[in-house]
Amino acid sequence: MFTNKDFPKAKEYWFMGKFHDWSEAIIHPMTHALHYGNSVFEGIRAYKTAKGPAVFRLKEHLERFMHSASTLKMKSPYSIKEITEIIKSVIKKNNLEAAYIRPLLFYSYGNLGLIPKACPVELLVGAWEWGAYLGENALTGVKVYILPWRRVHHSQYDMSAKLGGIYVQSTICGLIAREKGCDEALFLNLEKNVAEGPGENIFIYKDGILKTNDRSESVLEGITRTSLLEIAEDLGIKTRIEPITKQDFLEADEAFFSGTAAEIAPITRVKDASDKNVPEKDSVIGSGKPGELTIKILETYADCVRGKIKKYEKWLTYVY
Ligand SMILES: Cc1ncc(COP(=O)(O)O)c(C=O)c1O
Repeated sequence: MFTNKDFPKAKEYWFMGKFHDWSEAIIHPMTHALHYGNSVFEGIRAYKTAKGPAVFRLKEHLERFMHSASTLKMKSPYSIKEITEIIKSVIKKNNLEAAYIRPLLFYSYGNLGLIPKACPVELLVGAWEWGAYLGENALTGVKVYILPWRRVHHSQYDMSAKLGGIYVQSTICGLIAREKGCDEALFLNLEKNVAEGPGENIFIYKDGILKTNDRSESVLEGITRTSLLEIAEDLGIKTRIEPITKQDFLEADEAFFSGTAAEIAPITRVKDASDKNVPEKDSVIGSGKPGELTIKILETYADCVRGKIKKYEKWLTYVY
């Protein structure tokens, strides 16, 4: 049977119009998405606040969800308004104070040719309590493996869409990074600049300027990234959006990942394997410890998502 061992506090998920016990599985093995990755997903977090659980930037996540579906020519059977209510009901049903929320739209059971002409589009929503994505040590700094392989390129598909099949590269490279003794992978793009992590954007801080890149560098412009750019400006930190070379990254005073799952993870150590003709090389970023600016951003973000800063309450959707 299916246990919820790695899905703490998950009791029931929502699928095909109703709740199902977590241990119950009702998807046919010939489901189209299972064979070709024809699904789109979101990763959303809800946080515990003084007014009960609140979902962070739900509107933006669901708008991206619908955009992802449109790139796969999927017609969502539910509107953003309806999915908002379904998500709230999943959090309530599972009695969660804080949650990672996973909506998935996928081509279901019908035919198995590449064109899913007889496959209905189904929606599934699950939620559970998910701690630090890169492990509890993430706050003391992670080690990244700069891959010899390049990130899929923005000329190949719409990088603002979260398509299941595209994440195969993220899984493969995430596994390789861990095999190499690192906590996470870091992609360069075809232009040999720093792109992003398998599920995270990257920021570097050097000479008083906080920098990140954008879609022209083959990255998904994350919702956390956008939020942090606004938070940083509000804190009076100079920000700049431009390509980040590998040298910029290696010589940065500080660096960190951002993303819904990983939240903010300081990057303190590196194994550079980006050039197959050069031996892999270990180094540290800045002092080798999470920097002051990173900690300031991390703490402000933590307060922001928990409803402790009035001006960012605009980003919260309270569940009750
Ligand atoms: C490839 C990739 N880059 C960046 C991000 C960060 O995006 P967000 O902050 O919206 O979670 C994600 C996570 O969704 C991702 O999968």
